[in-house]
Amino acid sequence: MSVSSSKQRKRVFSGVQPSGSLTIGNYVGALQQWTREQHHYESFFCVVDLHAITVPYDPAELRAKTREVAALYLACGIDPAISTVFVQSHVPAHSELTWLLNCVTPLGWLNRMTQFKDKAARQQADSVATGLLDYPVLMAADILLYQTDVVPVGGDQRQHLELTRDIAQRFNNLFGETFTVPEAMIPPSGARIKGLDDPLAKMSKSLTESEYHAVYLLDPPDRASKKIMRAVTDSGRDIRFSDDPEKAGVNNLLEIYEAFTGETREAIEAHFAQARGYGDLKKQVAEVVNAALQPIQQRYRELTSDGHFIDELLAQGAQRASLVAKATFARARENMGFLMPPD
Ligand code: TYM
Repeated sequence: MSVSSSKQRKRVFSGVQPSGSLTIGNYVGALQQWTREQHHYESFFCVVDLHAITVPYDPAELRAKTREVAALYLACGIDPAISTVFVQSHVPAHSELTWLLNCVTPLGWLNRMTQFKDKAARQQADSVATGLLDYPVLMAADILLYQTDVVPVGGDQRQHLELTRDIAQRFNNLFGETFTVPEAMIPPSGARIKGLDDPLAKMSKSLTESEYHAVYLLDPPDRASKKIMRAVTDSGRDIRFSDDPEKAGVNNLLEIYEAFTGETREAIEAHFAQARGYGDLKKQVAEVVNAALQPIQQRYRELTSDGHFIDELLAQGAQRASLVAKATFARARENMGFLMPPD
């Protein structure tokens, strides 16, 4: 396929941090939407490695996870013939535009970000990196560089998307029309899959304290089943969708079932009306999750059996992404009053 710097079709941009193993939460909130939307938009899917260094990390692990996440994009159904898959740090315009956007983003906007407050609270106050506060500006640069129309993400990214829109509008007002103002695309259900061990907290790939918190996309079937069978629920028997925090565990299992089967809520509640308690629900959730994960794992093994395939794909992706990113960056710097650099 060809990618040109000017837009032929509406664009999608999204990304995942290589900061842990991808979970079924990432799949439902992000990757499931991406695989569907890539057929309707010119799409850019990025492994956002620069974001993954905003908290303490291990360099060898970052290297391994960057390749793993890229391979999982493909294993989950991203088609590199129609979508561009690349690594954020391979396209320097992401870091360069961040600096320009830093200078139009009021500090107060960043101090309000709930994800910053949550992540900072988990560290010693005097070791929180400046990059963690600046994280959403780098994310805005990611999105704005591609003149993105739509950003498919889970519900936890809503505030970052609002900030991206505010930054784009402020830049356009100060320096003239430069960036497309993007919209978030958040799934109506499954936007916030919860931890199996704590159904009031978001399922997260970077919380590894409990073995039973998350199902990972690469979990073998017996491990995935064991985690789901141990999911925290209430002491009742009623299997229905509910906003009641008491029923959060059962609701979470039903949302997972809904995302993996694509069935309607009415059909799901009718199906489970005859179930013999929560054990039966958990068993069936484990079955539908494993049925979806098996082909993903099979494709992942095939894709990673050739040691060079993913690296080559990422090199091509970076070239395609750079074409678009460079053009936007040049426009932004020109509008801000910089002299064009000598060739
Ligand atoms: P990250 O790596 O935390 O998560 C990747 C994607 O998965 C979604 N997600 C979830 N969806 C439903 N339930 C969950 N429990 C769950 N956990 C995660 C996230 O909403 C996200 O869509 N800041 C982003 C990465 C990023 C980005 C971007 C995204 C950097 N630049 C530009 C879009 C556009 C993040 O931390 O994702």
